[in-house]
Amino acid sequence: MSIDRRQFLQASAALGAWMAWPSPLFAAEQRKERLIELIPSVFNTALDPASETLTGVWSFNEQFPGPVQRFRRGDSAHFAVKNQLPQDTAVHWHGVRVPNAMDGVPHVTQHPIPPRGSFDYRFTLRDSGTFWYHPHQSSFEQVPRGLYGALIVEEDEPPQVDRDEVWVLSDIKLDARRQQVEDFGRILDVANDGRVGNQILVNGLVAGAPRKLEVRAGERLRLRLLNTASARFFRLAINGHAATIIAFDGQGVVPHPLPAEGLPLGPGMRVDLIIDCMGQPGQSFAVRDLGRPPIVPATQLGTLAYGAQPAVRSKPLSSPIALVPNQIAEPDLGKAVDHYIIFQGGMRGAPVIGLVDGKPSRIQELITKQGLAWTMNYNAQHEHALMHEPFLHLKLGEHVLLHMINETDFVHPMHLHGHFFRVMAVNGVANPQREWRDTVIMGPRQSVDVAFVADNPGEWMYHCHILDHAAGGMMGTIAVE
Ligand code: C2O
Ligand code: CU
Repeated sequence: MSIDRRQFLQASAALGAWMAWPSPLFAAEQRKERLIELIPSVFNTALDPASETLTGVWSFNEQFPGPVQRFRRGDSAHFAVKNQLPQDTAVHWHGVRVPNAMDGVPHVTQHPIPPRGSFDYRFTLRDSGTFWYHPHQSSFEQVPRGLYGALIVEEDEPPQVDRDEVWVLSDIKLDARRQQVEDFGRILDVANDGRVGNQILVNGLVAGAPRKLEVRAGERLRLRLLNTASARFFRLAINGHAATIIAFDGQGVVPHPLPAEGLPLGPGMRVDLIIDCMGQPGQSFAVRDLGRPPIVPATQLGTLAYGAQPAVRSKPLSSPIALVPNQIAEPDLGKAVDHYIIFQGGMRGAPVIGLVDGKPSRIQELITKQGLAWTMNYNAQHEHALMHEPFLHLKLGEHVLLHMINETDFVHPMHLHGHFFRVMAVNGVANPQREWRDTVIMGPRQSVDVAFVADNPGEWMYHCHILDHAAGGMMGTIAVE
């Protein structure tokens, strides 16, 4: 079936089924649709307010990172994307459960938006949470050039806080003139840990002590952290505070403390923290990335800076912080169908055979001749344009237990579109938290089992969020039909 035909059938099927979803959301008073223009273009930004130098980036609406989009649950969004870039694009809403035709994946859910072209994305925000948006066209280049922004959907009854802050964490690779090194998609990065920048950014500014998050003693702070870097992992820690995790990837979890050894946040992933600011007026504390010494040194991301005013309260608020869960269909393991995905490839590790367009080839040949370095179920796929068949077919409404088996020596943050999954087990050991996620870290030589109900019809991307890995073959689609 041609892409166009498949696409058309898919879009109409997806829209039909979406309308039929029973949800109290639609019974409630329909809020007005909000029209938001999103214009990706070439832009110069000051990464360091203390310096005169401007750095060329690609950005949305001449803001870097793109403007924070804030909604209430149940709102309808209409994003009019007008492409001012020198190349095709398409915008994806990471973690937002949208109808398939609105998912922003070129050649799979829509035609790419050509330079000076536009596309209208319209959808209702049925889940609350911390999400983000970024192009899905040549992501390995367009995202690190600067195209990313936060998309926040507030709960019907959010936990009571004094401040709700968003920190978009990323990095950038700069040369001596503080301009971007334009070495996107090098096979050396593709086949290893991906292209990691040499400068960490917080909300588009160089990380470090001057990145102050100003608070007042006694306040309760909600801090939403997003990792929009192409390949960098963060390991988050906050000095002098007991921070509580309330959500992963936008979905509420049983509140629990930020681990002392730091919280790993892989590319694509988010965490929501509640911090009771029980320091003294005038004090400041470092928010840190513990890195991965000795390879990746620890870095101060920013500072929790207390103003001079007296404390607003002497004891932390006692109001509950647990989030009211979103409505996500609960997988029933009793009737779940097992599916398996095996991951192979990379610069280190056993040589394997991979299939490209159905033809077997040695990994070394894939790397040197095709620029591909990874396989999922023995297949290496080029970016969307040449993508053929979904590598998994799920029945609409099927309960799925997906076993992901990483036979590589590398870590992969695996992301599924259109759905959330529960993380059931790691290396066969049950995960007591069973949290919902849209992106999960799969360590080297690790197996991770996730469960979900395939209830959103369409062809959905499933890929590594190290964007060079996705470009190098670790990308495919799962059809729900
Ligand atoms: Cu955040 Cu398929 O992407
Ligand atoms: Cu990967």
